[in-house]
Amino acid sequence: TTVEWEAESYDMGGHDTYMHKEIHEQAEAVDRALRGRIDDRFSTVHLGGLNLDARDARAVRRVKILGCGTSYHAGQIGAQMIEELARIPADAEPASEFRYRNPVVDPDTLYIAVSQSGETYDVLAAVQELKRKGARVLGLVNVVGSAIARETDGGIYVHAGPEVCVVSTKCFTNMVVSFGLLALHLGRTRDLSVADGKRIIEGLRKLPGQIEEILANEEQIEKLAGEYADAKSMMFIGRVRGYPVAREASLKLKEVSYIHAEAYPASELKHGPLALIEPAMPTVAIVPDDELLEKNRAALEEIKARSGRILAVAHQEQEKADHTIVVPKNEDELDAILMGIPLQLFAYYTAKAMGRDIDKPRNLAKSVTVE
Ligand code: G6P
Repeated sequence: TTVEWEAESYDMGGHDTYMHKEIHEQAEAVDRALRGRIDDRFSTVHLGGLNLDARDARAVRRVKILGCGTSYHAGQIGAQMIEELARIPADAEPASEFRYRNPVVDPDTLYIAVSQSGETYDVLAAVQELKRKGARVLGLVNVVGSAIARETDGGIYVHAGPEVCVVSTKCFTNMVVSFGLLALHLGRTRDLSVADGKRIIEGLRKLPGQIEEILANEEQIEKLAGEYADAKSMMFIGRVRGYPVAREASLKLKEVSYIHAEAYPASELKHGPLALIEPAMPTVAIVPDDELLEKNRAALEEIKARSGRILAVAHQEQEKADHTIVVPKNEDELDAILMGIPLQLFAYYTAKAMGRDIDKPRNLAKSVTVE
């Protein structure tokens, strides 16, 4: 298959695994996703292959995003960005669930299929069903010329470059950045102001440098992974923008380390999972410095009161946490792009400490092209 061919011809460049290499390629990859697309004159972006003129863009009443695994999580962040910046109701759903439940296909909804490989069967089947029912479907895809890229009406290439490790890192980041571009574009055809457009563009431009800053903190993250590698199970929590970040981070840890992990919205803790909290069940908390900071701090207090260990990913040291990984602050709407990156390294170092086969976790394939 294509992936094996890439693995042979794609140099590891001194890294011990593709996962480590691909994590470190993210600043460059994001730079590539932005290149040639920003339009400073109108504080918007140009997305050449979108095939959606301003009139079409304005006619969109709803956005539905479909994907599997990590791409589904990227879609969840994308849906939030589209709601925030363009004020269009948006949500993400696993492509397989969507296609098996005989969905109501609405002509005013813009459908977006998200896929690294562009070959995932469940996503492709959802696209074909949508097309058959007359829907407009865009692709947000990494592999150029792939099946999903060909079957969609237009779309955005995320330009992450070849990704060999079975678990996705740099492609996830570029997907989320591409959703940021799309949200900005849709927003600027609607009610997003020039000033806000400018603010988002400045935020996007800061990303590559901020990713370098996060990766420069690798030693701290490696040490932390050592501290938590004895856990049998871990809880990941986040609120609104932080929740899909928590879900993706928990998936990453499961995939490469085989440690059981669950992700919950921080506010749902008290409705059940709080019963699990004890010293042997550490929590990773996503704590952005936004309007929900105080709410998130209250959740940390609840966990501490049950003697839970806490690792926070935040924009400043969290007093209630046992450890904090501090990440650079961007615009509130874009913070989700950065906050998961240290947790990719966390998953990598945990798996490494446990001697796992990082690039090829047991039972998993890079792309699932069968039903
Ligand atoms: C497989 C991989 C996942 C990936 C998912 C979707 O399950 O193991 O890492 O997220 O497929 O793949 P796609 O190529 O559609 O993004």
